[in-house]
Amino acid sequence: MRIALDGPASSGKSSVGQLAAAELGLGFLDTGLLYRAVTHRAIELGIFTSTLSAAEIMLMPFTGVRERLTEMAGATTVTERGRDYTVAVEGSLITERDLESPEVELQVPAVAAIASVRDELREVQRDVAVRGGTILAGRDIGTVVLPEAECKIFLDATAEARAARRAMQRGFAIGSSEHQRILDSLMARDREDRARPVAPLIPAEDALIIHTDHLTLEQVVDQVVAAARRAGR
Ligand code: C5P
Repeated sequence: MRIALDGPASSGKSSVGQLAAAELGLGFLDTGLLYRAVTHRAIELGIFTSTLSAAEIMLMPFTGVRERLTEMAGATTVTERGRDYTVAVEGSLITERDLESPEVELQVPAVAAIASVRDELREVQRDVAVRGGTILAGRDIGTVVLPEAECKIFLDATAEARAARRAMQRGFAIGSSEHQRILDSLMARDREDRARPVAPLIPAEDALIIHTDHLTLEQVVDQVVAAARRAGR
């Protein structure tokens, strides 16, 4: 059973996916980690001299930044650890803490807009899916990575609800400057993810869309598990 779980930034894909995977006895991979890992490694190696937008990266010649990022994407590996996965780029293991830095969040949509980076990472994601039953969470799993998935779900929620959830998870008060920064950052990422010409963030035609604004985490997990069981019959 392969489940595609797509949705915008902070729509709960990770929390929902992990709990649903445990209930269904499947593996879970958050594919955003791959794009973040390549971005982190590139920042660490000083490949960006300043923050670049998707449009700026696409205007550059293929030699240089885009080519180097594509090489890194091709050298990205995912190793199973129980039901979890660890990600390495060119043999360098990336920790979860590195992946959530504001620098990575600012630069990742531009890295994710490069078609050749997506082609390399698509193969990495498909390899994980063929190893066994799994839930892949991302933006284009149902449309591009696993169009043949038995079950496709798109989690949606307003930007305000998503930012409030993320702020509370990180211990920031609603209305604080950190809350505002989270809201601005996720709206900017959504804009870039929806507007890019390759694999934009859109629900697959055959996806079940779940609006989560007024649902608890448990209610969303129950809906995902029920949809997976229906699809597996
Ligand atoms: O899901 P997460 O917020 O960790 O994803 C980080 C970024 O990676 C997204 O903003 C998006 O640009 C990119 N991404 C993508 N396709 C995926 C998963 C993530 O383009 N399947």
